Amino acid sequence: MNCHVNFNVLGIESSCDETAVAIVDADKKIHANLIYSQIAEHTPYAGVVPELASRAHLEHLPRLIRQAFQDTGLGWDDIHGIAATCGPGLLGGLMVGATMAKTMAMARNLPFIAVNHLEGHALTPRLTSDLQFPYLMLLVSGGHCQLLVARGVGDYALLGRSLDDAVGEAFDKVAKMLRLGFPGGPKVEQAARLGDPHAIPLPRPLLRHPSCDFSFSGLKTAVRMYLEQHPDVHVPDLCASFQQAVVDCLLDRCHRALPLARDCKTLVVVGGVAANATIRQALQKFCDQHDLVFNAPPMALCTDNAAMIAWVGVERLRLGAVNDIDMPLRPRWPLAELKG
Ligand code: KG4
Ligand code: ZN
Repeated sequence: MNCHVNFNVLGIESSCDETAVAIVDADKKIHANLIYSQIAEHTPYAGVVPELASRAHLEHLPRLIRQAFQDTGLGWDDIHGIAATCGPGLLGGLMVGATMAKTMAMARNLPFIAVNHLEGHALTPRLTSDLQFPYLMLLVSGGHCQLLVARGVGDYALLGRSLDDAVGEAFDKVAKMLRLGFPGGPKVEQAARLGDPHAIPLPRPLLRHPSCDFSFSGLKTAVRMYLEQHPDVHVPDLCASFQQAVVDCLLDRCHRALPLARDCKTLVVVGGVAANATIRQALQKFCDQHDLVFNAPPMALCTDNAAMIAWVGVERLRLGAVNDIDMPLRPRWPLAELKG
């Protein structure tokens, strides 16, 4: 592909509970970025029900694809590649999105790009800014909590990861205990705004541990035990104290990563939890103190979306890294395994 010629990629995201379609071009213009959020389907269960998620993807994807063309005035002749999330995620949802994408690629004789959802988060800052490799990356989402060095498209070195719960999962579980609603992260953040972050003593698991690994399960359990012993707790105080403990853990682990990422001038935070303003502010301050540039995508591109999937399609198509139509789905697909 001639890199001076602009081209469009259509992307589909269906790995969890967001049904999303986007069209993005190589000049970083997001032509369409449509999301159907399945919150209403899953709220009664306070968590994502895989079977309901697959059905909702099946129901809403075709109309979102049609709408993306309608809204932009683009047609099939304007599309140069089709990208879909092929993992990690819930198998049923991945099957719906990837099968639609593969079918369209076959019917239109277009290249197909099998996207790793985590690479979608990882490359988003290159869609929204002029970020160059390498960069240090804190990936914090509902399913993952990792520190990596992004060296290039498909080239990620893992420095540390959560040994148990992902950080978004901890937010969601705390919200569930407090009956704040779903998804939990934004609800906990909202409640925390009115609370005192130092009101309740909570543990900081693995603080000062000589690795870049994370652990949030003990913190979550500490919140549960505190709640059992203090049923009348001021909920905002508990949320603020929990959020502060998370911030302290994240900063400590980033600090630990610095000597391992000396060639990185930028720290980026990506994934759904990167939408948390307190976490963003703390990381910004950390970067100021350590002479790093801080980079975080706009809030709307932190949580799951298809623009990030289409963008991986652009980056990979530019490199000729396209996939066969029989590319299998990978419900488990670590970022560090992309290379090779
Ligand atoms: O990246 P994402 O949309 O989906 C996954 O790939 O997991 O991340 C979703 C996670 C959920 O756990 C949600 O509670 C959390 O991100 N989240 C937040 C905030 N917004 C979303 N956590 C803390 N504060 C927020 N403002
Ligand atoms: Zn995600």
